[in-house]
Amino acid sequence: MASIMRTGASLLLALLAGCVAFAAAQETPQTHPLTNLPPAGEISTGFFFPDFPTRQFIAGQPVKVVLGVRNEASEAYNVSAIMGSLNNAADFSAYYWNFTQQIYFQAVAPSEELSVEYSFLPPKDLPPNDYQVALTVFYQDAQGFKSTTFFNQTVSINEKPQLIDWKLIFLYVIFIGLVFAGVYSVWNNVKESQLYKTTVGKKARKVEVSRADNADEWVKGTPYDNWRKASGKGKGASKKAQ
Ligand SMILES: *[C@@H]1O[C@H](CO)[C@@H](O)[C@H](O)[C@H]1NC(C)=O
Ligand SMILES: *[C@@H]1O[C@H](CO)[C@@H](O)[C@H](O)[C@H]1NC(C)=O
Ligand SMILES: *[C@@H]1O[C@H](CO)[C@@H](O)[C@H](O)[C@H]1NC(C)=O
Repeated sequence: MASIMRTGASLLLALLAGCVAFAAAQETPQTHPLTNLPPAGEISTGFFFPDFPTRQFIAGQPVKVVLGVRNEASEAYNVSAIMGSLNNAADFSAYYWNFTQQIYFQAVAPSEELSVEYSFLPPKDLPPNDYQVALTVFYQDAQGFKSTTFFNQTVSINEKPQLIDWKLIFLYVIFIGLVFAGVYSVWNNVKESQLYKTTVGKKARKVEVSRADNADEWVKGTPYDNWRKASGKGKGASKKAQ
């Protein structure tokens, strides 16, 4: 019995030790590539935003940037990746978001040019504001990694324009409802008033009377009148005959 318990305890201990080791391995800090940027190499860069030339980005919509790299060094570079981040416009050390890195591994020979495309996504729920966006290209030669931050500027990120403005529609519905309620209550008051009852009541009676007169006047002397009278008589006659 005691030996079983001892084995159980030691098993548990071994398991715990394994867990701790695993957790420690997970926690070994991995420095982010943007934390300590490698030194700059000899390249010149140019860029443009084909879809957002005014650099007014929209939260939740991917932004494409085309980067042109010209190798000004005497040895080839291997353009490996582009990465970016979204930072506080007033304090660059405040990181809000790191954009996904994109891998290229494309060589560019001395005096040659290369253009690559990079897409980043301002988060959907980002409050509309000014932000600092920094985009960095990483490349390597025989000596190791180099980096150049080709874009580091304040941009404004706006809310996605809503196709259907539900808030406005809601307000319209409430407004129309209020107007109907108002018209209805006024109508109710008018309907109950004595003035309405007398005037409209009289008119209705008058109309009925005149319509009846007209009906007789219209047909007086026409073939229809004659036929009506004749058939009326005829009916009476046939009834009598039966
Ligand atoms: C984003 O990059 C910065 C700069 O290296 C780093 O300090 C931060 O931890 C990164 N954030 C995330 C969520 O990876
Ligand atoms: C660029 O570097 C990567 C990683 O070192 C390598 O796999 C790739 O073959 C290189 N590309 C060229 C064109 O040299
Ligand atoms: C971007 O510019 C800010 C100043 O506006 C500077 O503090 C920061 O170091 C720059 N970031 C990079 C990656 O060059």
